[in-house]
Amino acid sequence: MRGKQLYEGKAKVLFEGPEAGTLIQYFKDDATAFNNQKKGTITGKGILNNCISEYIMLRLAELGIPTHFIKRLDEREQLIKSVEIVPLEVVVRNVAAGSICKNLGLVEGTPLSESLVEFCYKKDELGDPLISRDHAVVLGWATQDEIEDILHYTHRINDFLRGLFFGIGVRLVDFKIEFGRLQDDLGTMIVLADEISPDSCRLWDVKTNEKMDKDRFRRDLGAVEEAYIEIARRLGVLPES
Ligand code: C5P
Repeated sequence: MRGKQLYEGKAKVLFEGPEAGTLIQYFKDDATAFNNQKKGTITGKGILNNCISEYIMLRLAELGIPTHFIKRLDEREQLIKSVEIVPLEVVVRNVAAGSICKNLGLVEGTPLSESLVEFCYKKDELGDPLISRDHAVVLGWATQDEIEDILHYTHRINDFLRGLFFGIGVRLVDFKIEFGRLQDDLGTMIVLADEISPDSCRLWDVKTNEKMDKDRFRRDLGAVEEAYIEIARRLGVLPES
């Protein structure tokens, strides 16, 4: 079913899809951190992220949030709509952790009074620098209307995901999402793209504050696979082995 390989990223590979306007997104077990300085493998991660992201994308679509997701094809592959990725990494923070603590001297775990949305310019060579909304518009990476749509969807996604994870005893500390431009007969629209998984979220157990996400890999905390399995299990999407 897969066509030609079009792109290989750190955790995923994109192939031509079976029909025009479709792609196949393949989830690898490779993990990188600190802008590629740390590399490793998390056994079974691709299979788990494929299922977790499928589940979340389907739930979001039910809420009316447009996404690139069409269907999961097998253990590691999903069929998606071909989109032009907006070169912005949209980060939402509910609790201080990671780069905001390092950059602004905050204590990890400090709740934020309101959800904070950050934009980074998606450019590996530059280390995905933090930018303002004005940078995105003035430098032509997104239009003002696209930014409005992205912010609208981002807040709705955060509201939904916080509730979804809280329901399974997990605090959604922060996450990163990406959007794409989908072209159809009616014009161009913004849709959620990429993936939502423990690779792109910080997830802490509500009771123990234990980290259940990629920070276990970044910080050598051990039991990385187990954390991803536990998130899939609590969401009810753990694939049968
Ligand atoms: O590193 P930082 O604190 O800015 O990350 C915020 C959130 O965005 C974390 O959940 C992290 O996993 C995610 N992220 C990501 N890909 C990046 C940068 C951050 O998934 N390139």
